[in-house]
Amino acid sequence: MRILQFLILAFFCYQTECKQLYPAILVPGDGGARIEGKLNKTSPGPFPLCSEMTDDYYTLWVELTSLLPIVLECFVDNFRLVYNNKTHKTSYPNGVDIRIPNFGDTDTVEWLSRQHISSKLGYYATLVTSLTQWGYVRNKSVRGAPYDFRKAPNELDEYYMNLTRLIEETYAINDNTKVVIIAHSLGNLVILYFLNHKPQEWKDKYIRSFITLAAPWGGSVKTLRMLASGDNVNILTMKALKARPVQRSMTSSAFLMPSDQFWNRSEVLIQTPIRNYTVADYKQFFADLNYNDGYLMREDTENLVNPLRSPNVEVHCLYGTGFPTAGSYIYSEGQWPDEQPKPLYDDGDRTVNIRSLQGCLPWKRLQRQPFYFKAFSGIAHMDILKHTDVINHLKEILLNS
Ligand SMILES: *[C@@H]1O[C@H](CO)[C@@H](O)[C@H](O)[C@H]1NC(C)=O
Ligand SMILES: *[C@@H]1O[C@H](CO)[C@@H](O)[C@H](O)[C@H]1NC(C)=O
Ligand SMILES: *[C@@H]1O[C@H](CO)[C@@H](O)[C@H](O)[C@H]1NC(C)=O
Ligand SMILES: *[C@@H]1O[C@H](CO)[C@@H](O)[C@H](O)[C@H]1NC(C)=O
Ligand SMILES: *[C@@H]1O[C@H](CO)[C@@H](O)[C@H](O)[C@H]1NC(C)=O
Ligand SMILES: *[C@@H]1O[C@H](CO)[C@@H](O)[C@H](O)[C@H]1NC(C)=O
Repeated sequence: MRILQFLILAFFCYQTECKQLYPAILVPGDGGARIEGKLNKTSPGPFPLCSEMTDDYYTLWVELTSLLPIVLECFVDNFRLVYNNKTHKTSYPNGVDIRIPNFGDTDTVEWLSRQHISSKLGYYATLVTSLTQWGYVRNKSVRGAPYDFRKAPNELDEYYMNLTRLIEETYAINDNTKVVIIAHSLGNLVILYFLNHKPQEWKDKYIRSFITLAAPWGGSVKTLRMLASGDNVNILTMKALKARPVQRSMTSSAFLMPSDQFWNRSEVLIQTPIRNYTVADYKQFFADLNYNDGYLMREDTENLVNPLRSPNVEVHCLYGTGFPTAGSYIYSEGQWPDEQPKPLYDDGDRTVNIRSLQGCLPWKRLQRQPFYFKAFSGIAHMDILKHTDVINHLKEILLNS
């Protein structure tokens, strides 16, 4: 009976051939998880219309209506993190409680918004739909592991405990079958840190492979512009400068700055009429932005995964190339730091520079576990989550492994 059950549950028959189906755990990137907040504030904050109190948790990230121009300031006041320069830890603003809903389910990593409407708010939805067509079952053999993407791995202890439990539980409910972790963007660094801190026996027992999509292994130059001048995250109604306080407060931003393991001290990344900045000038960079906490955050996070150590599990490192990707920025007279600078382009996936995407390549010789990589020409940073070529490649990895 036990054997029969095992055959039914752990094998999947595809075109008359039966293959073992490894459960998948999806880890999102920056901005790729739903975040809920509950308010009990003593003052309304920056704008009289902002709520001080909510009865229950509501979707903070992301509800498009909360990003409309007037109420954006309410959002910013609730969504920022507050850095303590003595403990080197962040907390939430007074009167704001935060939670990451439905850990383990796929819904919140498939769709950022509760309403599954705008395809712009779809994240892993296309991939999960494909997985279910190949025999995967939502919330059983495909699961979501969202986290507070505003934080760097040094503040994700509780998440890592939950993730360990989720992996062990997923292994168990799929008849002791090893798990494949699929991560996008920042999520890969979060997982690399996790795997670097796990005993090898645990990884050998529970992890089938680690599939990395568009990982910024050495950070990205674009982050410097976001920290200096803000980024409207492609939302046209949003003003970059209005979003900047939140973006600066996120320790994951400091974590994603270009690493001195990938850029050398003679490469100018930010050029201004008064001063140039390279990876060796971050202290001055933040001093000139009048944001010294930023430098402390950078110090807290710069060595969390760099120099990179191999994860010592089977790796499939996938990334897109062939797009103009900011390699440095030029601020002309009067633009620094409040106006958007002009980029000089590098190769990459539009968000992450090619050298950073390729940061996994040395693992081929640094670990004894199998290492594979594939570069997809013409697939950009977000499109890698849904492009047919990538989905087909994932199908090959998952069903033939
Ligand atoms: C709101 O916070 C105050 C303390 O600041 C507390 O006394 C009150 O019970 C809280 N209200 C709710 C609904 O949690
Ligand atoms: C920490 O923050 C306080 C208050 O903002 C400031 O006075 C102090 O200089 C800061 N310390 C460091 C080490 O930056
Ligand atoms: C997902 O699975 C967990 C435990 O495996 C369960 O507690 C939860 O209710 C499930 N959610 C859905 C939407 O099925
Ligand atoms: C971890 O799991 C617990 C229990 O399910 C949950 O209350 C908590 O919010 C989770 N924490 C994180 C950071 O995911
Ligand atoms: C630094 O990078 C530049 C541009 O890629 C290169 O020309 C130079 O040789 C590098 N210098 C060192 C010391 O690696
Ligand atoms: C900044 O770098 C550019 C290009 O490398 C150079 O032409 C310029 O003189 C530098 N400016 C300063 C202020 O050092």
